[in-house]
Amino acid sequence: MRMSQYFLPTLKEDPSEAQIVSHRLMLRAGMIRQSSAGIYSWLPLGLKVLRKVEQIVREEQDAAGCQELLMPTIQPAELWQESGRYDDYGAEMLRIRDRHDRDMLYGPTNEELITEIVRAHIRSYKDLPKLLYHIQWKFRDEVRPRFGVMRGREFLMKDSYSFNLNHEGARAAYNRMFVAYLRTFARMGLKAIPMAADTGPIGGDLSHEFIILAETGESEVFCHRDLLEFDVLDEDVDHAADLQPVVDRWTSLYAATDEKHDEAEAAKLGDALVNARGIEVGHIFYFGTKYSKAMNAAVTGPDGEQVFPEMGSYGIGVSRLVGGLIEAFHDENGIIWPESVAPFGAAVIDLKVGDVDCDAVCDDLYAKLRAAGVDPLYEDRDERAGAKFADMDLIGVPWQIVVGPRGIKNGVVEFKNRASGEREEISAESALARLTG
Ligand SMILES: Nc1ncnc2c1ncn2[C@@H]1O[C@H](COP(=O)(O)OP(=O)(O)O)[C@@H](O)[C@H]1O
Ligand SMILES: [Mg+2]
Repeated sequence: MRMSQYFLPTLKEDPSEAQIVSHRLMLRAGMIRQSSAGIYSWLPLGLKVLRKVEQIVREEQDAAGCQELLMPTIQPAELWQESGRYDDYGAEMLRIRDRHDRDMLYGPTNEELITEIVRAHIRSYKDLPKLLYHIQWKFRDEVRPRFGVMRGREFLMKDSYSFNLNHEGARAAYNRMFVAYLRTFARMGLKAIPMAADTGPIGGDLSHEFIILAETGESEVFCHRDLLEFDVLDEDVDHAADLQPVVDRWTSLYAATDEKHDEAEAAKLGDALVNARGIEVGHIFYFGTKYSKAMNAAVTGPDGEQVFPEMGSYGIGVSRLVGGLIEAFHDENGIIWPESVAPFGAAVIDLKVGDVDCDAVCDDLYAKLRAAGVDPLYEDRDERAGAKFADMDLIGVPWQIVVGPRGIKNGVVEFKNRASGEREEISAESALARLTG
């Protein structure tokens, strides 16, 4: 992408409405534009990151044997009347009436809809287990939408649903999602810690929230210090195998959200106790037959008997993660994207646009990086060097190749790492080799 053509409305000043760093930087980097309270348009740069995050989530769901489908945003009220949640959900549900006077709603979650689909198509125990997910916009009319995409009213969620014949099967599905979540967040460079959590309006008795620690987090959390050192990407995960040992290892140390916090238990940790604030990026629930019974989604069991599938549901805040990543990775100059979610692989910065030599080196680098699939951003605007550097640091592209007339005389470019700030003078060929090698 050429900067001269890119729709990237960056801001020099901090917008006054933003209270936390991720919201500030998303507005300043031209990633989002608020349309009304808690509802945002995703501008090209923001959408690129959102898609990268979504893709990692998708790959790990697929690897765990979860099958993607797509359910609508608008749902009929009848299904929620069946489950009893139409009244329970209260003012957070956006209720809509269509032209035929039918009660509809903008889905805040999809347990009812997926249960209806399974009820219609799955009649025998032979068709179980099933693990299904979608990535779809949700609407919750939050009392206090705030912090940009972190607590929006409209937000993108990945939600999965498991259907099993018995408790053991359901537990295995829960474990698969547990491990898939660990891998998902780790691939984004995040340390997300599974913590015992309340089940809230979803119901059920087993639940974990996946929390990344951040000063601006909305929840107070408690955990054993050693959990911060665990690394799931070190281990080979076989989703077909029994994952209980992996889950046991992660849950063997104390970790709890505020609601589940046990003072006496935590006190035993002494100095090893971390009391911090955190951002909930994922939440998994096992709730048994709550919805399959209420909605009469029985299957025929091996002996002809009626069996209500054991269910679980598993959410990831895809749009919230974009904000969460910025909370975790930034400095005073702007965002520092981990390479796995960066909007561009590298930036080529032409310090003297119009200079035949600079332009030639940059054009060549840009073409070769594109051909190699690095997805470069080409800073080809006729701007002051200072403005170019500031914008590039702000939007957080991991690598910058700075090309200026002085360097060209010596046969070098400057190769800069955004995260460490380290700069090296190397040949254009070496820079290219570093990024494509
Ligand atoms: N208002 C919101 N804005 C952005 N993301 C949200 C919002 N509410 C929930 N999420 C994300 O969706 C995930 C699943 O939501 P869930 O646990 O059902 O909601 P809640 O935690 O509000 O009860 C959460 O872990 C979070 O990452
Ligand atoms: Mg939750």
